Amino acid sequence: MTEPIIAFREASKVFTARSGDVRAVDGVSFDISPGEIFGVIGYSGAGKSTLVRLINALEPATSGSVVVDGLDLTTLPESRLRQVRAGIGMIFQQFNLLGSRSVAKNVSYPLEVAGWPKAERAARVAELLDFVGIADKAGVYPAKLSGGQKQRVGIARALATNPRILLADECTSALDPETTADVLALLRRVNTELGITVVVITHEMDVVRSLCDRVAVMEHGRVVELDDTYRVFSTPQHPVSRRFVASALKDRPTADVLERLRGRHPGRLVTVGVDDAGHSTATMNEVLREAGVDSTVVFGGITEVAQRPYGSLTLELTGQPASIQQGVTALRAFSDVVDLGTASDPHEDPSMATPRGSSDGGTPDGPPAMPPPRTRRPGSGLFGGGSSHLPIGDGRTS
Ligand SMILES: Nc1ncnc2c1ncn2[C@@H]1O[C@H](COP(=O)(O)OP(=O)(O)OP(=O)(O)O)[C@@H](O)[C@H]1O
Ligand SMILES: [Mg+2]
Repeated sequence: MTEPIIAFREASKVFTARSGDVRAVDGVSFDISPGEIFGVIGYSGAGKSTLVRLINALEPATSGSVVVDGLDLTTLPESRLRQVRAGIGMIFQQFNLLGSRSVAKNVSYPLEVAGWPKAERAARVAELLDFVGIADKAGVYPAKLSGGQKQRVGIARALATNPRILLADECTSALDPETTADVLALLRRVNTELGITVVVITHEMDVVRSLCDRVAVMEHGRVVELDDTYRVFSTPQHPVSRRFVASALKDRPTADVLERLRGRHPGRLVTVGVDDAGHSTATMNEVLREAGVDSTVVFGGITEVAQRPYGSLTLELTGQPASIQQGVTALRAFSDVVDLGTASDPHEDPSMATPRGSSDGGTPDGPPAMPPPRTRRPGSGLFGGGSSHLPIGDGRTS
């Protein structure tokens, strides 16, 4: 087994404040492997930034240990901690660029501190700016850059001294969705092309969905769930994880939407889970055709979670009642199916624990509306090798 590049062992950080002690990180134990893109998600105050500051030794742990690259930070003298920090790059939400220095000089700064000769610095800066795609901005000052360009400078600067680890604390929170996607794609290149371990701190589940291999969910200083990103999305265990997943996936009709769907579609409505565990969507069409059932997609969407397909489709099934029943039974053999009944005989969606009115399943900043975990048979699914081009009715796709 490979040695972890970062290991927390019962690590705690307690801040002593007038109002009492704050356990910002509370007995956390987990490993991050070299080469991973690891996400840490949690609401404001969960302890994410404090956890990151334990990794780069900006804060000493109050108890327990933090091991980075085989070195226990809790036992190292300050001179050695500086060495450890040199092997860790960091990027921030507010970019933290030096306004009085050009882009090239910002990126050059850590090289100057590390004592690189001038000619080597210039070559390295050129290489870095090229890697992050802003070679043409070398002489420009930060004030003249867009948020996305500023973060590219931040990334170039963080990579300057060839770190093994890159820490990103809310690095896309100040960016619009399109720019966020560009920066996340760049972080993926940092990981795949340079082999750098990336630790991403975020409160946006979409960032985890599109970037992270694994994710730890934090609440009140503790890790309440830690698993493969795909597994956390498909079968979230902790209520906090469920809220985050619900905020990122809006593929299932809420109570309000379902009511409107029933108004428009008198046939039998079923929601069919889609994942990459087994069958293709072609199988779905095939079993329904065999049963003599017509189907139209009326809602849903398939998105990517950790670069794998995931989502659900709500179908209107029409045909003889017995045929429809046969079709639903056939679908159940390989997928998670929620039978919503018909407009005249509606069935309740058991996964819809949200009261009517609080329809969007909860958002990180909104009211806690928590659907229970989706029941999914292991190894079941529709996707995998099949076509993703589906007949889309009046629903949404993502
Ligand atoms: N230097 C400090 N002194 C006292 N309390 C602190 C200090 N730093 C953080 N805290 C407290 O520790 C807890 C965790 O803070 P932290 O900044 O790690 O949370 P976070 O998950 O990063 O939140 P956010 O999403 O808002 O950035 C909070 O209750 C915070 O008030
Ligand atoms: Mg923070």
